[in-house]
Amino acid sequence: MEKVVLAYSGGLDTSVCVPLLRERYGFDHIVTVAVDVGQPESDIGSAETRARAISDEHVTIDATDEFVTDYIFPLIKANGCYEGYVMGTAIARPLIAKKVVRVADEVGAAALAHGCTGKGNDQLRFEAVFRATDYRVIAPMRELELTREWEIKYAKEKGIPTTVSGRKPWSVDENLWSRSIEGGKLEDPSFIPPEEIYEWTTSPLRAPDEPEIIEVMFEDGVPVGLNGKRADGVTLIAQLNATGGKHGVGRTDMMEDRVLGLKARENYEHPAATILLQAHADLEKLVLTRAELQFKQTVDDRWSELAYMGLVDEPLFSDLNAFINKSQERVTGSVKIQLYKGSATPVARESLNALYSEKLVSFDSATLHQSDAEGFAKYHGFQARMHKKIVK
Ligand code: ARG
Repeated sequence: MEKVVLAYSGGLDTSVCVPLLRERYGFDHIVTVAVDVGQPESDIGSAETRARAISDEHVTIDATDEFVTDYIFPLIKANGCYEGYVMGTAIARPLIAKKVVRVADEVGAAALAHGCTGKGNDQLRFEAVFRATDYRVIAPMRELELTREWEIKYAKEKGIPTTVSGRKPWSVDENLWSRSIEGGKLEDPSFIPPEEIYEWTTSPLRAPDEPEIIEVMFEDGVPVGLNGKRADGVTLIAQLNATGGKHGVGRTDMMEDRVLGLKARENYEHPAATILLQAHADLEKLVLTRAELQFKQTVDDRWSELAYMGLVDEPLFSDLNAFINKSQERVTGSVKIQLYKGSATPVARESLNALYSEKLVSFDSATLHQSDAEGFAKYHGFQARMHKKIVK
């Protein structure tokens, strides 16, 4: 019996893959795998029901804690952003792919499949993991050059219920950390998205008139508590998504450069991610030296590039993580963030490791002798004055 294991979300693309793997590829046993990375329970539930109706075997794997500890926390430490937005889909794909491979090992499969098209980044992220194995890799969407319209028709023929309708033709990817919406009318960059594409965030225009200040506690660069109470990562992120979402924090509408070079219009919502990255970067500024901050910016950029491409097994990625982890040993303290009509602004911070002395910097203290700075000032800009022949 030829078995294939398919990374399954319950969405249109992956659902259509099931009969295609049977009809076009000749597999007689299709194992669907849904990986729970904190998407709404209803999604996982409906993926399961849908899978049971069309596949031969279905497995749901809860990887939410692992997603937080092994992917979200390292991203926070690395201030992981791509072209200005906090990555979400990018860091979940390698984990999903690894779980799919594990199921393939367990069921003795011959092949691995995913439902990504040949135009996006996700094919690359899945296959960076899949192709490190001996399994055959199958990408029906890409290989059969299918369009969404064809898929909707085919799904109807096969009796696969789809959530995609003529009115809401978006492709959504959701996990605990972020929600991405693309496709349909959104593909026209000049089209203003309707409110209904957003589900986690209130429009900043309709957000509360009263600002709210929250306090995030960090230990070793990782968030460990909210408003004075310790909380595990999953709880903390869920709470921040709710509170931030209420204030309209964390919407992104942008043109994005995909790995292949295609530009795409992308919409995201990620309230907790926005708040935590603002707070984390602010705390770093309090405790790290200027030299560390400058160098880490470069490291963070390289980290983000690799994470965006899904190249988490590239040795450089773990080299960078080693540096980042070392740098985070002092990133302990707390930051107050003000949430107000779409913005999340750091307004106060404190740490026992602060490289800050009010006594030294204050206008009102005499601990340092200001006259000592005169010699420094005389040499400051020296070469520019030589260049202008002011000093000879
Ligand atoms: N453009 C984003 C990325 O590359 C999101 C892709 C998510 N896919 C989707 N079907 N909405 O990470």
